[in-house]
Amino acid sequence: MMDLSTRYMGLELPNPIIASSSGLTASVEEVRKCARFGAGGVVLRSIFEEQIAEEMEDLGDRSVGVHDHPEVREYLSRYGQENAIDEYLDLIREAKRSVEIPVIASIHCATSGVWIEFARKVEQAGADGIELNVFLMPLDPDREGREYEQVYLDIARAVSASVSIPVALKIGTFFSGLAHTVRTLGASGVRALVLFNRFYRFDFDIETLRIVPARAFSSPDEIAGSLRWISLLSGRLNCDLVANTGIHDGAGVIKQLLAGACAVQMCSALYQYGIEHIAVVLEEVRQWMTQHGFETIEDFRGKMSRMASGNPEAYERVQFMKVVEGRL
Ligand SMILES: Cc1cc2nc3c(=O)[nH]c(=O)nc-3n(C[C@H](O)[C@H](O)[C@H](O)COP(=O)(O)O)c2cc1C
Repeated sequence: MMDLSTRYMGLELPNPIIASSSGLTASVEEVRKCARFGAGGVVLRSIFEEQIAEEMEDLGDRSVGVHDHPEVREYLSRYGQENAIDEYLDLIREAKRSVEIPVIASIHCATSGVWIEFARKVEQAGADGIELNVFLMPLDPDREGREYEQVYLDIARAVSASVSIPVALKIGTFFSGLAHTVRTLGASGVRALVLFNRFYRFDFDIETLRIVPARAFSSPDEIAGSLRWISLLSGRLNCDLVANTGIHDGAGVIKQLLAGACAVQMCSALYQYGIEHIAVVLEEVRQWMTQHGFETIEDFRGKMSRMASGNPEAYERVQFMKVVEGRL
């Protein structure tokens, strides 16, 4: 009897596919739909720190067309809502009443202050966990990398210490010493790290010479970033790892589990193919497990991590040399 269940930051998930935080997890109807099509958990859309929205509005003033980016539109429309906090707490309560899978609230923050109180309210509203989505671009050349990292650490520590539900931290890749930073953040009190967020990207229109939003959705080849780092770091941290960005199909899920992730988060593929795509991906995972004789996720999770591999060099630069020499 096949069992797809997994444990993620202390929560029991019926399977490792989590609907990532986005407009697709912004209403109870959509959360129900995620559960109906087999999601193992949902991360509700983020509630945003005022400062972030203001920064994005500034960017919008300077960059024609940036509001056309769906993610920015969502950010700004949410920020404009009155009673945003009460509405968010209601969303948690209703989602919890409606589905049996874990419901994780998401807080988008850049400072630790106001969110401590809010995190407690999220816990009281019944969320099974909190995901902190920290969005901090290291743009200032006068600020050292460790100053930025300290903000992440302060947020992670403060929120983890103020609630008893598990806290995950969702980060990007813009750190000077990624492995060290990830290890430090993993020991900050959070139960999991989400590797990696996909930040807003811009592009240039070379006809109008304007800044325009780049593609809002990831492509499947973007899986390479998190696959590398999860396989390199899994088994070497004090917390769970959850894969995010570029996971579009069963193969993507399987790769990340082989790398050592406890679960994966999907967003772009659900926008592109509909929430019902979760059922398709789950079936692909089941078929692969059957073909390979695996009955549980633990039978193969982490099998291809650098630590489990007998060939750690394969995860490092030598591969590049082989490609250059035409040996791969
Ligand atoms: C339209 C849109 C809205 C999003 N909203 C949020 C959000 O509210 N909070 C958050 O943490 N991430 C948000 N994200 C990021 C996704 O959760 C996810 O991290 C990212 O899209 C990478 O995963 P993917 O490759 O499966 O799309 C959003 C992404 C998109 C495209």
